Amino acid sequence: MAPPELLFSLAPLSLLLALVVEPHGTYGSTTGSFRVNDGALEVNGICATSVNIHGYKCQEHKVETEDGYVLSMQRIPEGRVEGNGGAGNKKQPILIQHGVLVDGMAWLLNSPQENLPMILADKGFDVWIANTRGTRFCRKHVSLDSGQPEFWNWSWDELVSFDLPAVFDFVFNQTQQKIHYIGHSLGTLIGLASFSEGHQADTLKSAAFLSPIAYLSHMNTALGTVAAKAFVGKITTWFGVAEFNPKGQQASVFLKSLCNYPGVDCYDLLTAITGKNCCLNFSTVDLFIKNEPQSTATKNMVHLAQTVRDGVIAKYNYGRPDYNQMHYGASKPPVYNISNIPRDLPIFISYGGQDALSDVQDVQLLLDSLKFHDANKLMTQFIKDYAHADFVMGTDAKDIVYNQVVQFFQNQQ
Ligand SMILES: *[C@@H]1O[C@H](CO)[C@@H](O)[C@H](O)[C@H]1NC(C)=O
Ligand SMILES: *[C@@H]1O[C@H](CO)[C@@H](O)[C@H](O)[C@H]1NC(C)=O
Ligand SMILES: *[C@@H]1O[C@H](CO)[C@@H](O)[C@H](O)[C@H]1NC(C)=O
Ligand SMILES: *[C@@H]1O[C@H](CO)[C@@H](O)[C@H](O)[C@H]1NC(C)=O
Repeated sequence: MAPPELLFSLAPLSLLLALVVEPHGTYGSTTGSFRVNDGALEVNGICATSVNIHGYKCQEHKVETEDGYVLSMQRIPEGRVEGNGGAGNKKQPILIQHGVLVDGMAWLLNSPQENLPMILADKGFDVWIANTRGTRFCRKHVSLDSGQPEFWNWSWDELVSFDLPAVFDFVFNQTQQKIHYIGHSLGTLIGLASFSEGHQADTLKSAAFLSPIAYLSHMNTALGTVAAKAFVGKITTWFGVAEFNPKGQQASVFLKSLCNYPGVDCYDLLTAITGKNCCLNFSTVDLFIKNEPQSTATKNMVHLAQTVRDGVIAKYNYGRPDYNQMHYGASKPPVYNISNIPRDLPIFISYGGQDALSDVQDVQLLLDSLKFHDANKLMTQFIKDYAHADFVMGTDAKDIVYNQVVQFFQNQQ
């Protein structure tokens, strides 16, 4: 068995934890050990620790959602060598959205030559890095404290209806230009759901989805199967309101117990969870372990587990027809219809052959739901050797993925 520290440091890449939440109480503490004030944000924030040190300008921004969460965003307004790329022109804004259980820093762990935000800045784009509610620098709310259960009363539905619209509106307002979107993992699901609901109709220019998750029913790692069998049936209506802290003591004890199931190989947990990443740098993985994982809402993890279990992309299921009736006016939660994404929206999808979370069969289902998309507006890239983490941290992601993303955006200008 891997040492617990390693185990949980790797957990952020996992959707599988979603399946291992037992329906009793909270994992981890809800005390604000990560809580920072504005001053600390400037000194210890993502700009200072991960961007300025490489010689790039970087601005910290605060964005308030309609339901009162205060999100932090980082903007890298230009490349290291000023005047690179779009000199003279107004730079195109790009919004980059991370996945579940990490924050925006995950994009910045490789060297400036290798990481996506800095590559985009050097290519002449105006880069905005989003951070999801509940992560290290997004633990403020206009009236709630992150120690209160009510602070954690949300799932990815709220990321679709509040977080994403807030950051889109903010960037649009600041730049007065339509925005290119990049999502990884959960960042793809909330993008797809949001665009299908028409939320960003006036502010979105194009979208790149890396390692897309939408349909999740083919996710079939050993750990996932065990966890699903053991726990998915126990999901109930009443335990969703708490912080899910993957670094918490209880999460640690629980995942360790899972590793004792026959057939679950926790020596190689990263592979067991994300698939066989081909191209990670060990020093980057070290940095990752130091800076991630980040908290999310237990309800969000439950919602993801429902997506795995039910094979549909739908809103949070309250677990009983009468509760669903109360929340939605129907006994089943409403479905997000991915086919409603505007057919002329330029889309780039890049997926990997070794990705255990974004399984090739599930990506096929996603592509099926886009089958009426304008053919010349949908580009796909299949990378045989890539798994989930390679898209964010792969040392050769620049050559294999990011250059294609840049090309795709440049074609929209
Ligand atoms: C959570 O939000 C739902 C509505 O979305 C509400 O019915 C419920 O009472 C809330 N629970 C808590 C503990 O805030
Ligand atoms: C847009 O920006 C202006 C000026 O910075 C600000 O006064 C206004 O409140 C902003 N609107 C939104 C919706 O953020
Ligand atoms: C791995 O990361 C270290 C530290 O950032 C760096 O010095 C080294 O060049 C990287 N190796 C590769 C292959 O990118
Ligand atoms: C989803 O949207 C498409 C296109 O707008 C429509 O043809 C289809 O009937 C919808 N599916 C459902 C289940 O509503």
